[in-house]
Formats: sequence, C-alpha cells, structure tokens
Amino acid sequence: MPYDVADRSWWQTAVVYQVYVRSFADGNGDGIGDLLGLRQRLPYLHELGVDALWITPWYSTPGVDGGYDVSDYYDINPEYGTLADAEAVITEAHRLGIRVIADIVPNHTSDQHPWFQRAIAADPADPARNRYWFRPGRGEHANLPPNNWLSLFGGPAWTRLTPEGPDWYLHLFAAGQPDLNWTSPALAADFEQVLRFWFDRGIDGFRIDVAHGLTKDPLLPDLVHGDDLVLLGGAQQSHPHWDRDETIDIYRRWRTVADSYDPPKVFVAEAWVDSTERLRRYLSPDALHSAFNFGLLGCPWQAAALRREIVDHLAGLGGAAPATWVLSNHDVIRHVTRYSREDTSLDEARQHYGEPADLELGRRRARAAALLTLALPGSTYIYQGDELSLAEVEDLPAAVRQDPNTSDAPGRDGCRIPLPWAADGTPTHGFGGTGPGWLPSPPDWATLSVTTQSGDPSSSLTLYRTALALRSKLRAPGDEHDLHWLDASPQVLAFRSGTLGCVVNIGREPVQLSTQTDVLLTSGVGGDPLVVEPDTTTWIHIPAASAGPF
Ligand code: NOJ
Ligand code: CA
Repeated sequence: MPYDVADRSWWQTAVVYQVYVRSFADGNGDGIGDLLGLRQRLPYLHELGVDALWITPWYSTPGVDGGYDVSDYYDINPEYGTLADAEAVITEAHRLGIRVIADIVPNHTSDQHPWFQRAIAADPADPARNRYWFRPGRGEHANLPPNNWLSLFGGPAWTRLTPEGPDWYLHLFAAGQPDLNWTSPALAADFEQVLRFWFDRGIDGFRIDVAHGLTKDPLLPDLVHGDDLVLLGGAQQSHPHWDRDETIDIYRRWRTVADSYDPPKVFVAEAWVDSTERLRRYLSPDALHSAFNFGLLGCPWQAAALRREIVDHLAGLGGAAPATWVLSNHDVIRHVTRYSREDTSLDEARQHYGEPADLELGRRRARAAALLTLALPGSTYIYQGDELSLAEVEDLPAAVRQDPNTSDAPGRDGCRIPLPWAADGTPTHGFGGTGPGWLPSPPDWATLSVTTQSGDPSSSLTLYRTALALRSKLRAPGDEHDLHWLDASPQVLAFRSGTLGCVVNIGREPVQLSTQTDVLLTSGVGGDPLVVEPDTTTWIHIPAASAGPF
C-alpha cells in the first residue's frame, strides 16, 4: 500500500532492508545481480513487510571494492542497468509503499574517476590536484610513504604515483580508492550537486559511507600510538583521520540540502566511532538524522553483554535521535555463523573462520536475535538473506574470492553470495539464468530458497514476515524512544516498548510465562507457547499498566 507521503518521521521506526545489488537478483541471467532483478523482486520485499530499502552503490565503477569505488556518481554501473532502471526501481518501490535510500561514497572515489585522472595528469601546482591528497614521499629517493598511516585493507595507506616520481597519494582503503580532500570548496559543491541529482530522482535518503572519515588533519602527521593504527583509535579527539570534529560541518551543509525538499530527505551515517557519545555528535536537527549502531553486530550472544549494548546505546543517544539496530551487513561474517560457535563475538568469529560450526544453534539464536532487534524502539536494519537464515560461506576457494580487503582475511565474499530464490536445479538456486553466479552458491542452499521457505510455517522467512506484520500493527507514534525493562533472571532480557513485550531467553533453562500471558509470536518452533526455551525470543502483548509476564 502506498505510504503517507506527508509522513516526515518514517525513518525513526523504519525496518530497512539492505540490498547488495550484485547478489540480490539477476534479471538478465548473466550471473550478476542487477536493477531489473531488484525491480522484479520488489513484490517479495513488499510481502516481507519492510518500510525502506538501502541499496548499496549502484554507480559506474571499475568494481575494485564492490562499487565503493565510484567513477561516475551520475550514472549507473552498466552491469546493473541504466539510469532509467534506477528510476523505475524508485518509482515502483514507492508504488508498493517502500522508500529508497541510496548509498553515497564521499570519502574516496575510484582512481578511474575523471577528477583523479585529471589530477594525476596535472602539474603538481594545478588546483585539480587539490581534490585528493598528494604528498612527496620520504627518504632520499622519496621511496617511503609520506606518513605511517595504514590502509584498512592492508599495507600502507599510500601509493606512489609513478615508480620514480616524488608524489604519493592517500587511500585509507584500496589503492583504487584515493581519498578525497574535503577542504576543497569545489569538491564540496560537487557533492551537493550529486545529492540533489538523486534527491530529484526521488530517492528518500542516503546512507553515508565512511561518514567518520571525510576530514583529515591537513598536516597529515604520523600516528604515534600503536593503537591508533587500527580502525578505532584511542585518542579519537585528535585522531588525524577518523572522527574529527570538523566533519560535522560537511553534514550541516548536507542537511540544508535535504531539508530543502518536502518531505525532507534523510541521512544514515556509517560512522565507526568510539562511543555512542561520539556518535551522537553527528545526530541533530541541523546535521544527520541517524547513524548505524554497530553494537549488536559485534556483541556476543550473552545476556549481560546484550543488555549493556542496548542500555548504553539508548542512554548515549539520550533521546537525541532514534536508536538503530544492526546484526549483519555486507562487511561482516553473517550472524548465523557468528552465533554458531563457542565464542559469539565478531572478533572471535574472525579468529575461528572456517572451524566447525553448529549452524542449527546459530540459526536458533539468529531467529531469537531477529525478534529481539525488531522489538526494540527505533529503526532496524535487515541485511539481505538474514530473513532466509543464510550462513557465512566460509569454504570459498581463494581463486573465486574477489574482496580486496586482505587485512580481514579471508575477506568479505562469504556474506555476499547470491540469494537463493528457488529450488529450481540451477547452480544459483533461482538467482537468475542457468549458469553460475558471480560467486558460487552452496549446493545445499536450495533448502533455504525463498520458494522453499515460503510455504513453511516454521521457516525463518515466515518468522520475519509475521514479525514485520505484527510490528507495523503494534507500533504507535512515540514508541521510538520507549523501553521499560521488566524483572527477569540475569539470563533473560525482558522489556516492553509500547504494548509489545519481548522475552529473550539466553540461559540454559526454559523460562515459564504466567498463564495470563498473551503470546503473540515466538522464534521457537513448536512446543508450549508459555515456555520460552533457551535461545528463544517470545513476543507478548502487554496492555498499558498491566503486570509483567512472569
Ligand atoms: C564501508 C562499506 O560498507 C565497505 O563495503 C567498503 O569497503 C568501505 N566502506 C569503503 O568504501
Ligand atoms: Ca545481471
């Protein structure tokens, strides 16, 4: 059903589905997901019940980093389609009541972008150089990088322009992703034009890639402390390239652009910062609307740790912005797999990559985690395939892996496998065409396909559909900041938000609900609805002012 176009607060409670275009649906059968495929599958997303899509970069790109290396912000990657296809996706999504958030990549471009090509062709004193960070190398022969910064993808954050020349350029990610220099007024003006270009084409907002990285200390000083060489440094206030105070000024200007539309456009920041207090600085009526909260994405499946993440995030935001909840995305090991081993933090999942995993346990916990995040106040992000309970594919041969990120070995391809749509005997399980996909699909994913799960009342897909339908029925204005903890044993998270009660049993013993409890839904399969089994979440209806469920 079309949504209320006058609704200006939709983003505060939205369930946003992340579409990784390359792996979502392949409309022309070449093994690569595309906009035609996405368009054809919009009814699926409508039936799932999501409020909005976040579509990962769809722009022209050499594809060094899955499209996060943009060579033209005004055009679509021909592998994915055309500008007209993007417009059709936007229009049709809107017709189905789904808003569209595109992905903007302002920290870096592709090295094939005309700005960079012009810069490297120009004289070192030419203003064209000013859009990026060029510096002479150190050492007698300029053969050492200008400073000791590291690329997040491994190795130095600098590449020498020519084998003999003095100049190097900065790239905090792959060498094909030179960092932009946001002190350039021309660059700032260009990006505002990019925002308007897509806003004018009807998108409802932008996810901002590496939102915490845009400004750098112009002196480009060496990082002094060993700790600062990693993503989350200790001395954030003075860090030369992460989370610098002046970054917010860029977003103040962007906000005026977003607010010039009716209804206003919105932003969600990908900002990896040290604390919710730091995150909150980005969030205000004159800066950004929201930011991903990555607390749960790294958090082990432990009651105390989960509770702490939730409490701290809400307290840190202090009502300044609605909370957001994220369990997975295209950059991390799928949480089904993370939850399926002894230690369930993201760091440990990386350490134990490829080791034996109890996926049945992981799936049980992932179902429980889904109902947990969907019951919390604020907005929730679903990464494509979460609704199918997909696990990380950890046994991809090195030869087929494509991710440039070698520091996070063995890379992020295992969470980017094409979605299985049907048990139709094709190698991609209905992703599109009859050949293999751009990454190979596990043969046993036929059993996880959309068509297989659609008819199954106990499937993960059915659980998500039911939960989203219930959520949209139960959520009322004002619930986005409402959370009351209910008395429960330490291994149980129990809370109410509005009239939706949620009981998550993370312990080893079943939890008995009182006989008066009005059970709405459980992540468990079968059994007594008044018993919350271990690794299970149950939703209950709690009319205002009534007693708790125990
Ligand atoms: C964050 C994106 O989510 C990731 O996929 C990408 O590699 C980096 N930013 C660099 O753009
Ligand atoms: Ca295709």
